[in-house]
Amino acid sequence: MTRKKHTEPAVAERVEFDERAVAARELSTEKAWQASLRPKTFEEYIGQKEVMDNLRIAVTAAREKGRTLDHFLFAGPPGLGKTTLAHVIAEELGATLHISSGPAIDHFGRLASLLTSLAENDVLFIDEIHRLTPIVEENLYPAMEDFKVDTFIGEGPHAKAVTMQLPRFTLLGATTRMGMLSAPLRDRFGFHWQLRYYEQADMESIVRRSAGLLGLPIDERGVTEIARRSRGTPRIANRLLRRVRDFADVEHDGSINGVLAASALDRLAVDHVGLDTLDRAYLSVICERFDGGPVGIEAIAASLSEERGTLEEVVEPFLLQIGLIARSPRGRVATAAGFQHMGLVPPPKAPSGGSTGGQGRLF
Ligand code: ADE
Repeated sequence: MTRKKHTEPAVAERVEFDERAVAARELSTEKAWQASLRPKTFEEYIGQKEVMDNLRIAVTAAREKGRTLDHFLFAGPPGLGKTTLAHVIAEELGATLHISSGPAIDHFGRLASLLTSLAENDVLFIDEIHRLTPIVEENLYPAMEDFKVDTFIGEGPHAKAVTMQLPRFTLLGATTRMGMLSAPLRDRFGFHWQLRYYEQADMESIVRRSAGLLGLPIDERGVTEIARRSRGTPRIANRLLRRVRDFADVEHDGSINGVLAASALDRLAVDHVGLDTLDRAYLSVICERFDGGPVGIEAIAASLSEERGTLEEVVEPFLLQIGLIARSPRGRVATAAGFQHMGLVPPPKAPSGGSTGGQGRLF
């Protein structure tokens, strides 16, 4: 992802995209402490009830009967816990977890060495699996289906192709872009699970749990305020909690209440539903410059000096989810709720919008 400043018509302040307080992707500086807040077992895991109920059955059966767990595919927006789930599954199976990603497995040799390092019933997690190259992907098929990999012994003209038998293992694939996954790869997974944005009650439980682990005193209004502004995404909740803690340490007695949390998050430019300056700039362009739309994504991107992919991946999913924008065949439109959020009077033609009912939308 490029580190690029975006210019914003309505607000003078500029934001480094990678440093957004509400970025759903993990920031490079927060890996260690985000990991320390991760649940490690089914018992500790909050939310995603349907997925978790099914996983618990599958994992328990595999463990009790000594069977290898099926290959599973997890889809959903970033930050909802796909890597966390892989850790939980491996922990519950008592298996070793190997973590890699589509871009990291950039040639066949890397795939072969990853596969041949696995032991019986190990779990291999491939994040961003839609980014595997076609050649690597084709070589993954026999490994998934028959636990076999074709490899070469020796080098140059004397190299000999051999088929190696692999131990039985479980592949967990994760993708933020289900639509970019090839049908043959998708079909080789026994089950597909769609992770959803978390409900408010689950977000509150996650904030409470993380505050407990951090030894942070917080009252119920503080919990509600942070949960409400975290875009249904645990990773964001944990990040906002830590940022609010700094305000509590410097400007209060180290504890968090509703007033302190609201004021800290306002100053971090995260508004009462979790929108930041980039989201608001996007909405303002549609509402004010393009009269509510419909407007094409390229025109919005040009107005914001932002990349189209950034808007599609990090801004639009959440605005669609909470019903502030809608997509039409002719482009993006601001809904009546979108206008109201910006303090503007919606024109009569503005659609009413409405949330997708907690369904994490994928593109
Ligand atoms: N921290 C991050 N994600 C979590 C989850 N789903 N449950 C509990 N704690 C979490």
